Amino acid sequence: MKTSLRAWLAASLLSCTCLTAGAQTPKPTFLSDTHVMQRLSTARKVLLLPVEESQENCRLRVIQHNQVVKEFNCRLAVSRTDYCVPLFLDELDKGEALLDIHVNRANSSAPSGGQIALRDFACWKGMQYADSFDTTNRERFRPAYHHTPAWGWMNDPNGMFYKDGVWHLYFQYNPYGSQWENMTWAHSTSHDLMHWTFEGKAIESDALGTIFSGSAVVDKEGTAGFGKNAVVAYYTSAGEAQTQSMAYSTDNGHTFTKYAANPVLTSDIPDFRDPHVIWHEPTKSWILIVSEKQHMKIFSSKNLKDWTFESDFGESYGCHEGVWECPDLMQLPVAVGSRTASGANAAPAADSKWLLICNINPGGPFGGSATQYFTGTFDGHRFVCEDNPAETKWMDYGKDHYATVTFDNAPDGRHVALPWMSNWQYANQVPTRQFRSANGLPRDLGLFIYQGKTYCSVKPSPEVFRHFQPQASGRLTAACRIDVQLRGDAVITLSNGKGEHVTMTYDAKAETFAMDRTRSGATDFSNEFAAVTTAPTRGKVKTLQLFIDHCSLEAFDAEGKMAMSNLVFPSLPYDKITVKGGKAKIYPTL
Ligand code: FRU
Repeated sequence: MKTSLRAWLAASLLSCTCLTAGAQTPKPTFLSDTHVMQRLSTARKVLLLPVEESQENCRLRVIQHNQVVKEFNCRLAVSRTDYCVPLFLDELDKGEALLDIHVNRANSSAPSGGQIALRDFACWKGMQYADSFDTTNRERFRPAYHHTPAWGWMNDPNGMFYKDGVWHLYFQYNPYGSQWENMTWAHSTSHDLMHWTFEGKAIESDALGTIFSGSAVVDKEGTAGFGKNAVVAYYTSAGEAQTQSMAYSTDNGHTFTKYAANPVLTSDIPDFRDPHVIWHEPTKSWILIVSEKQHMKIFSSKNLKDWTFESDFGESYGCHEGVWECPDLMQLPVAVGSRTASGANAAPAADSKWLLICNINPGGPFGGSATQYFTGTFDGHRFVCEDNPAETKWMDYGKDHYATVTFDNAPDGRHVALPWMSNWQYANQVPTRQFRSANGLPRDLGLFIYQGKTYCSVKPSPEVFRHFQPQASGRLTAACRIDVQLRGDAVITLSNGKGEHVTMTYDAKAETFAMDRTRSGATDFSNEFAAVTTAPTRGKVKTLQLFIDHCSLEAFDAEGKMAMSNLVFPSLPYDKITVKGGKAKIYPTL
């Protein structure tokens, strides 16, 4: 077909557009069917990126001084906007900046199935400059007293430590969407383990990879050469291989400098991750435990930089139905006999044992993710498990307790654990949008003996109870705590006017506690969600402690012998409680 001169001129003008920074919306310049550039104005603070969760990821690169200064994936909106995420322009140098976007062409389907042309993607109109990012809560399922990210996706807790009265929590974070992607360590701080302040991104991806899970220690004596009381963090660089890297902070964990000689540990096994470092006083050494496929590797070091391989643990022990992840290792006091397992405030003395935490996914007792543990001895070189290898011990018998590890340097010799309260089976699908996932309540760990065997005791940390009024109110709300005094067999039901309910059953003779969430509210976002979870109670339960917070229900035996953490998504808060075989008292939050 012949092209007229006018048409040819018009077409060439169109294809040679100048890249100019627009006023409210950056103007897209279409370079091919999959490639777009936009000039950005760094005079503004934020660029809002519209996200549509069902679309494929686009690759976004921010270019300044002809170099890539930021690179991430984002599910840019094609046919509609689910929510916006911020690209913080005030993190860039002032002056010229370019956003370079590569689109996956699978990423262009309309809900009706047809292809949407790149020029017609909803994101181009929806990208708006702003002077701040509005983090006001828009979610009815956002917990009131559990830690959540203000926006975006969260999974494992990372690098937790306590220092100078402040609890530091880092976590696996996606700043550019509420689904797993762009793994970054974000940071929150708290004075009481219950009120958290979001401190922003702490460790971002680099040429070695995105930043997967890990731990941090307070190097009191400055053994690493970064000064006394430096905070030294270990994480997995998830690139072409998984390798272990290190970063240090001399401002109490607010900013980190990556170690120049990273990675510090490598392996030829693809699943090699989640380093956890502890101080071992008897050998005056640092110990690093890291998971490798389906076992743990233990290393030692005097300077936190050079690591010597000590031993492997795990072959043929416990559950091997999934990948071993997120280990932790600690010495805990054993409560005498079968008496109350305290754990808190007790210094590890003669009557103590070692606990090795091993999160596993899949393979949990009710499918998907869960936390198993082993008890035994550790001499600074080798962990020796005292259990029958065929036995698996679970720390929590709910479906939503994963990646649980403890804070370094907690006060009074405490070992405070924090779970991620979700399950890889459905974590990306739970019915929230502005954010996804919360942490479980902080728990103090200890050990107790039941029928000659040692188990981990789990109790909500004392700080948790201080968050509630001392007087019972009698009213069930979306965020409260309930104590149930049990006399024997009991059935406890929480329900709402929509007929949605959770039923908990305590069988005193069988020594089991069960929670049925099959009719708890929304369950249809995943076939794996509706479930009945059952725990051994290892003795009688006298007081059951329940914590309800908008989308979660955690149950504990007050003596620490049973814990169960489950998510629930009722369309209205449960406002009615019935108890057969016991007496309930409800405490509102302060
Ligand atoms: C556990 C885990 C870790 C990994 C991280 C990645 O939930 O798979 O093994 O480091 O999540 O986000």
